[in-house]
Amino acid sequence: MTGESIRAGLEIGSSHIKCVIGDIVGEQIKVLGYDSRPCKGIREGIIIDIPQTVESIREIIENAEDKAQNNINYVSLGVHGMHISSQDHHAAIAVMSQDQEVSFNEVKQVLQAARSSIPNSEDEIIHTIPLEYMVDNQRGIMNPKGMAAKHLQVNVHNIIARASMLTNIRKCVEKAGFEIQSTILSSLAAAEIVLLDDEKALGCILIDIGGSLCETAYFNKGGIRGFFSTHNGSDYITNDIAREIKSSRLEAARIKEDFGFATQAHIPKEGKIEITRIDGRTKDEVSLKDISEIISGRLADIFGKSGIKGKLEAMKINPDLVPSCILVGGGSKLPGMEDYVRAELGFQTRLGYPANCVGDAAVVDDVSWTSVLGLLKYDVSKESPSLTKPGHRKRRKGLIEWLRNMF
Ligand SMILES: Nc1ncnc2c1ncn2[C@@H]1O[C@H](COP(=O)(O)OP(=O)(O)OP(=O)(O)O)[C@@H](O)[C@H]1O
Ligand SMILES: [Mg+2]
Repeated sequence: MTGESIRAGLEIGSSHIKCVIGDIVGEQIKVLGYDSRPCKGIREGIIIDIPQTVESIREIIENAEDKAQNNINYVSLGVHGMHISSQDHHAAIAVMSQDQEVSFNEVKQVLQAARSSIPNSEDEIIHTIPLEYMVDNQRGIMNPKGMAAKHLQVNVHNIIARASMLTNIRKCVEKAGFEIQSTILSSLAAAEIVLLDDEKALGCILIDIGGSLCETAYFNKGGIRGFFSTHNGSDYITNDIAREIKSSRLEAARIKEDFGFATQAHIPKEGKIEITRIDGRTKDEVSLKDISEIISGRLADIFGKSGIKGKLEAMKINPDLVPSCILVGGGSKLPGMEDYVRAELGFQTRLGYPANCVGDAAVVDDVSWTSVLGLLKYDVSKESPSLTKPGHRKRRKGLIEWLRNMF
């Protein structure tokens, strides 16, 4: 089983590296192999030790390859982090061609001009998403190719990353022996397989609740319109629990994942659970109510005015304008998260399970795999449809000409 339809996605999270290999059959992803492990070479999403990270990447991809019974050479790399931001940019060019018709070259030129407006040389643009073209001041054009024009303008949304951060991540992947096919913002990859067309058209926010970070992407009129990261996530809940109940972080993570609820109101039946203190021997009991109180304290920090809510308000994104919110990432698996977010932010909220994916339930039914799976489907060349060369049309024209010559 080889072929171009087999793809691999690799994501370097705040503590775990995830890899998935899948076969793309039509609209569907068939998961063939996967692996996810913690990596000591990464802390809070930043590479602190290149050799250790290289070793982990190699091991994780090889494990995924073994499960998939397929070797891969290329990966789509999912990136995220505090070093990534997004901005609208504008560019304009004069159409110089003799027939004064917008061609592939003019579209390419105006998009390049929009990319060159990045604030400083330490940054790299990873996505340029055209929002609209203006042909001689006529707004709202989605594909200007073939139109008569003297001037061509474009409004784009650029996703900008710190170049040195990307270089270090790419270096690790390449040293591990793999080539990077494309570098994709994880939130865009998740959006690819989780957002409905109506959600993107009418407005929605996609929140990825990870270990150290939460990433919020805002979509409207069919595309991404804003993105920000906040340095707070589900690992902070783990740390809070460990501190409060005086346990190891491993024990606190177990308690959170097995017995945690977003709020006390979500506890189906009050009770106590046995815990092991940090010495690894002393046993004790804590109530579910106390655990969920610690959890809601941290959630208020993540989603409140000093966190996501404050940032959304600053961007003037509110539930009157944006109907829905979709949650992905391991942190959204706490029972009651949808209700919590609905109450705190006011959006209609749902969990973003990967759509159109088949295979092991540990991946396809798990919201922490959504963005990695999306990497397999995200096609960078579709970001600017006007830049895809009309290969098919040429062939058809040839056929018509051939038929004409026949009769
Ligand atoms: N069942 C669960 N209930 C609650 N939290 C969970 C559950 N499963 C995993 N988590 C938490 O989700 C977090 C990891 O999520 P995820 O795998 O999306 O993070 P990541 O991508 O590595 O991190 P980041 O996006 O911050 O770089 C951890 O804090 C983990 O404890
Ligand atoms: Mg993540």
